[in-house]
Amino acid sequence: MSDAPRPVYLNGEWCDTATARVSAFDRGYLFGDGVYEVIPAFGGRLFGLAEHMARLSRSLAAIGITEPLAASQWQGVFDRLLDGHDGQDVAIYLQVTRGASERRDHAWPVPAVEPGVMATVSPIGGPGRDARVITAPDQRWARCDIKSINLLPNTMARQQAFEQGCDEAVLVRDGLVTEGAATNLFAVLDGRLVTAPTGPQILPGITRGLLLDVVRHQTLVEVEESFVSLGALSRADEVFLTSSTKDLWPVVEIDGRSVGRGEHAGKAGPITRRLDRAFQAFKQSQRSSA
Ligand SMILES: Cc1ncc(COP(=O)(O)O)c(C=O)c1O
Repeated sequence: MSDAPRPVYLNGEWCDTATARVSAFDRGYLFGDGVYEVIPAFGGRLFGLAEHMARLSRSLAAIGITEPLAASQWQGVFDRLLDGHDGQDVAIYLQVTRGASERRDHAWPVPAVEPGVMATVSPIGGPGRDARVITAPDQRWARCDIKSINLLPNTMARQQAFEQGCDEAVLVRDGLVTEGAATNLFAVLDGRLVTAPTGPQILPGITRGLLLDVVRHQTLVEVEESFVSLGALSRADEVFLTSSTKDLWPVVEIDGRSVGRGEHAGKAGPITRRLDRAFQAFKQSQRSSA
């Protein structure tokens, strides 16, 4: 599927990845003035749709873009994108920008222009290897809770990780871990599961939220929503990342040092594996009930 042109919904029309074109004056292109979502579909069924659409609405409201499509219109777009991918795991990427205005001005166009809307689909790769990560300064803005298409600091941190043969960058602000460049982070410390609290310093990941619901509902392990210090991260018994396309992603190495001790050193730990099993079972139950 990756080489063949994929369908693209673009500003009310259908085209494909080879033919999709946007205006050079689209404010997403000029200013990064827009927001996005990535919604996974497993075996042809969207997972966490309500949560992703609620976050999209919050992001749009936060930057003052009116909702471009009604829920039923989005559903029609998703149905068409998923058509023919029944057995596959795919991710729908959608973005909404403030639209195209030929007068380049930081202030928003008056009257408002039609938002730019794009949606496409791509395969989700297999699980891949466990994560080796670097730590890097969190150089992002003060509203990381908005899923903005402005991802320059995230892309620079991820690139730095790749150049060091690693898979992800864990971002650190004032000595405290916020999240990964495109993932949320969890650490197991003294038997407790610790992750950064929601707020302006992190993206409220959908996988993070659903996993916390599963963990609390099944009382799998004690949870603490607080920032993990860099020192605590280096002593953590287990560390894993979460995202919609990776689910729970064990971290086995941080800045060249193995995570965990004894027989678990440098491997996915027992709590991570237990939570992963519970999360996979939850995903399966959502699929059966959808
Ligand atoms: C900065 C950041 N944090 C966390 C996540 C994980 O969020 P989700 O679980 O909704 O995919 C992402 C996903 O793109 C992200 O970009």
